Amino acid sequence: MEVVIYRTYEEMSQAAAREIAEVLYAKPNAVLGMATGSTPLGVYRELVRMHKEEGLDFSQVTTFNLDEYVGLSPRHDQSYHYFMHENFFKHVNIPPQHIYIPSGTTNNYKAFCEWYERRIKECGGIDVQILGIGSDGHIAFNEPGSSLMSRTRLKTLARQTIDDNARFFKKREDVPIYAITMGVGTILEARHCLLLANGKKKAQAIAQAVEGPVTAMITASALHLHPSVMVYVDEEAASELKMREYYRWIQENKPGAPRS
Ligand code: F6R
Repeated sequence: MEVVIYRTYEEMSQAAAREIAEVLYAKPNAVLGMATGSTPLGVYRELVRMHKEEGLDFSQVTTFNLDEYVGLSPRHDQSYHYFMHENFFKHVNIPPQHIYIPSGTTNNYKAFCEWYERRIKECGGIDVQILGIGSDGHIAFNEPGSSLMSRTRLKTLARQTIDDNARFFKKREDVPIYAITMGVGTILEARHCLLLANGKKKAQAIAQAVEGPVTAMITASALHLHPSVMVYVDEEAASELKMREYYRWIQENKPGAPRS
């Protein structure tokens, strides 16, 4: 796990977008794992800018989203289908048939989840998975206590997640209680993971995920079991990291480090 601390949210988002663009230059038909919520908005903005101004091409890209609320139709303005369309898909050239988002309205969740897992494999697996982190340490909607080997499934949201996400809905009671989410095990199979966090509210979760033990109570900590993870944070989200001076030191000395 490599931690990089950026001065601002914009710098963090631009660096993450550059990293994704590098993957697309090397592999134009890459499979991207997408996240929703406020954290990746800056990355999507920057990728859209690169598409419009620099010709970054998404025509061969396939995407799989991490999660969706159960019970919201794709047209609901708080569904993750709607979020992705408004903030990213409608601005770039990914063929619609290459876009996969868990269904919040299927009448057979178990079969849908199995199909979703199968589709990821059939498409060659996820090359880069973008991740945010919940204030309870979750990745996707793998709430505290989720198995670190879990697969895509129906999940009951934690009260803290419902409280956190109530800001997007008219009232707290409107936040769905269930979601369909990729599992921790599914995420760990991506070839590369990019965990992003900004703001003071994420500082504790980031400290627990990066410097605490690997535990199902902070599912982001499972990323220590993955060989290729970048953690991009802004100053506020980094503020509770005990080793932050060391992470900075690593970055400063990177250009001179011996290359293998
Ligand atoms: C969303 C997702 C969640 C969010 C997390 C942080 O697809 O998987 O894990 O990344 O809840 O949400 P924000 O970014 O809104 O703070």
